[in-house]
Amino acid sequence: MLTIPIVAGAGMSAVFITTVNGFMNQPEGFVMEAGQFMAVNPVQAMLNTATFSKVFHVLSSAYLTGAALLAGIAAFAMLRKGVSAYHKKGLNLMMAVVLVFSLLNSLAGDVSAKFLAEHQPEKLAAAEWHFETESGADLIFLGWLNAEHEIIGALHLPKLLSFLAFGDFNAEVTGLNEFPPDEHPPLLVHYLFDLMAGIGFALLAISSLYFLFVFWKKRNQFNKWMLRMVALSAPLAFLAVEMGWFYAEIGRQPWIIRGYMRVEEAATSSPSVRILFFVFLLLYIVLGVICVLVLRRLFNNNPAELEMEKWLEQKHDQSAKKGDQA
Ligand code: HEM
Repeated sequence: MLTIPIVAGAGMSAVFITTVNGFMNQPEGFVMEAGQFMAVNPVQAMLNTATFSKVFHVLSSAYLTGAALLAGIAAFAMLRKGVSAYHKKGLNLMMAVVLVFSLLNSLAGDVSAKFLAEHQPEKLAAAEWHFETESGADLIFLGWLNAEHEIIGALHLPKLLSFLAFGDFNAEVTGLNEFPPDEHPPLLVHYLFDLMAGIGFALLAISSLYFLFVFWKKRNQFNKWMLRMVALSAPLAFLAVEMGWFYAEIGRQPWIIRGYMRVEEAATSSPSVRILFFVFLLLYIVLGVICVLVLRRLFNNNPAELEMEKWLEQKHDQSAKKGDQA
């Protein structure tokens, strides 16, 4: 019963954090006069144009990752200890959540790309190594750049960048060369974007295959290869979240507040930063260790598998009694 308020509470916290990040990308709700932020409207600043796409993408990817972690733990346990009723139930439930949130997350990624195409075109252009403004632009997957900024060895998906950016295969997509060179984000964001989106489609494929096996009775969704892929989904989802944040933050460079304040202007020279870093590091290590100890005690003293077996036995006895009475 506690799960719903915890999940909702964590969601609210993510919403507030993400609105701040939205403001850094799309600063709104103030007037700039003589280098000063004036007439600040905090609500407008929070509900800026970036808020919707960011909150949608962050929440859907967080719930997707949580479900992938739980599914991965169940799959890993089944690979090690064999298939049990408890893990089967858990895996089926979590894979349903992974499937739903993979779909929602891909939709949110699409909304985010469309936001970038309109409001932060240099970030999308850097991710796609899209240098010249062009209609019917290709989506570039992987590859590398030579000294002349020519793309080598990449997979070109015809006109797909135009479609991703504007939902139209022939739309014009702004190239990076339209922006002053000192405002270009680092080009390595290409790999971060590809890895994030690639993992997104892999998670969608794995969860779709899982349910294909569930409904196609000739196949077993608990076969070793399926379980291995599900177990791998957990670290992959975490990696995608990290790649997503690195892309969002490195892709905003050189700005901390896009168009108003550069990172070097905001960076603090306070000597206390290092001490604070270690204090926080220590705090998180202590919290992490306590969390692991508490969970281990909780589950070692009361294994969930046993609880589930007892519950199944009880149900079995009850229905047997009902049968005798009838
Ligand atoms: C399915 C294909 C995906 C596409 C097309 C996509 C697209 C995007 C785009 C365009 C951004 C930059 C948004 C911005 O800077 O305003 C972004 C950021 C991000 N992505 Fe993805 N993404 C995809 C999959 C994923 C997956 C699978 C995850 C994690 C499970 C993920 C997690 C994130 C995170 C945490 C951010 C940073 C927050 C944000 O700026 O919204 N993405 N993604």
